[in-house]
Amino acid sequence: MSDKTVFIKTYGCQMNVYDTARMKDVLAPFGYAAAESPAGADLVVLNTCHIREKAAEKVFSDLGRLRAHHHAKAEAGGRMVVAVAGCVAQAEGEALRARAPIVDIVLGPQTYHRLPEMVARVLRGAGAVFDTEFPAEPKFDHLPPPGAEGPSAFLAIQEGCDRFCTYCVVPYTRGAEYARPAAEVIADARRLVETGAREITLLGQNVNAWTAEGPHGGAWSFGRLLRELAEIPGLERLRYTTSHPQSVDADLVAAHRDAPALVPFLHLPVQAGADRVLKAMNRGHTAADYLRTVDALKAARPDLMLSSDFIVGFPGETEAEFAETLKIIDAVGFIQAFSFKYSPRPGTPAAAMPGQVADAVKVERLARLQERLAEIQTAFNRSCVGRTLPVLFERAGRHAGQLVGRSPAMQAVHAEAPAAAMGAIRPVRIVGVGPNSLAGVLDDLGERDAAE
Ligand code: SAH
Ligand code: SF4
Ligand code: F3S
Repeated sequence: MSDKTVFIKTYGCQMNVYDTARMKDVLAPFGYAAAESPAGADLVVLNTCHIREKAAEKVFSDLGRLRAHHHAKAEAGGRMVVAVAGCVAQAEGEALRARAPIVDIVLGPQTYHRLPEMVARVLRGAGAVFDTEFPAEPKFDHLPPPGAEGPSAFLAIQEGCDRFCTYCVVPYTRGAEYARPAAEVIADARRLVETGAREITLLGQNVNAWTAEGPHGGAWSFGRLLRELAEIPGLERLRYTTSHPQSVDADLVAAHRDAPALVPFLHLPVQAGADRVLKAMNRGHTAADYLRTVDALKAARPDLMLSSDFIVGFPGETEAEFAETLKIIDAVGFIQAFSFKYSPRPGTPAAAMPGQVADAVKVERLARLQERLAEIQTAFNRSCVGRTLPVLFERAGRHAGQLVGRSPAMQAVHAEAPAAAMGAIRPVRIVGVGPNSLAGVLDDLGERDAAE
């Protein structure tokens, strides 16, 4: 029976979304039901992101706002325990509490399986808890088996990053690369499918660097893992994110050719187009290397669509170098992208590099970059009109009788569909393009209508 409530706010990447779900799984046996708001909650967890300054600062303004709820709970004779988890917690540690005394617990991404005992300690009056170590024994050994919350599920298979791009905090906040053994991954994937998942997105900070022991010994490659997972009956779609272009090997390319469950859509961040900038970023590849990788993937899977991340205004970036980024966008034709102004992060090498770019220049370059990306995305969305796309319906739409789902390329698609289509992949003929979604009609219904 649940007699207490927990509110968890998630910032940042999909790994944090996954971690939030797992924290709920860990807390549920201790009587914590998930709440939709921090008002009145017994436990509030902020699962934070340190990737850019704005993301990190948001946590402190949210903690400020939380004070009123904390106070109201105390007035009502209760006690609201406040925990800061995730990457800001890992980076700031005890310093975080000095800035925000309302915080009871600071825990990193690798220790949240211990959250119930941390909360118990606080409630016993044992004082604040700081737990930002990287335990030798992975947290995965202590997490309960996962269950799917809908037709599309996340599954963490790899964590941490050894690449040390010079702008990035992730290797410091998530720690060294760790890959979960294949048998564990397969068991989790099977459970997710048994509990309703039709699509699984494998997660890792550097997911395609995954290599680990196979179920019968011997090392498995990432391509091998994908091929095995694609065979699970009932698993219709397989995705993975985020990949590094330097970890795309021939075996992974072959998996895209051989495993139809692998969707023809890949998020493969390139960050920038100029070789000098890529080198200063420590990306380990040139623009030409990246294009060769894309060519190999497209040779294996000709319908493959790509998305990317971009950083503008990296230290020393000239106008000509920025133009190289626009050039690679045109060369690849990314149908979606995330793009950011470079944000200097404490302790990273790039923050100390000469030639920091003025904010006004970053703003202007970002606007031009996003304009070009939007043009390509809009053209791609328009090109979908008249085509029939397989759509995995995931939730009810705004209007009665409407469902919303995702195309292989992650486009949101809404269509009139019977409730029975929820959780299923159905062919949808695209008839319109909105600012953030596509409109379609069920193709199989159309056929039935015609036959009547
Ligand atoms: N592990 C993933 C995601 C890293 S963070 C990967 O390797 O791609 C997601 C994106 O944030 C990065 O791809 C990068 O484009 C951006 N990013 C990371 N550090 C940044 C910084 N200091 N300033 C601006 N953008 C940054
Ligand atoms: Fe950060 Fe680079 Fe690692 Fe991605 S590959 S998490 S950008 S250090
Ligand atoms: Fe942010 Fe940490 Fe993810 S810094 S992007 S929450 S790995």
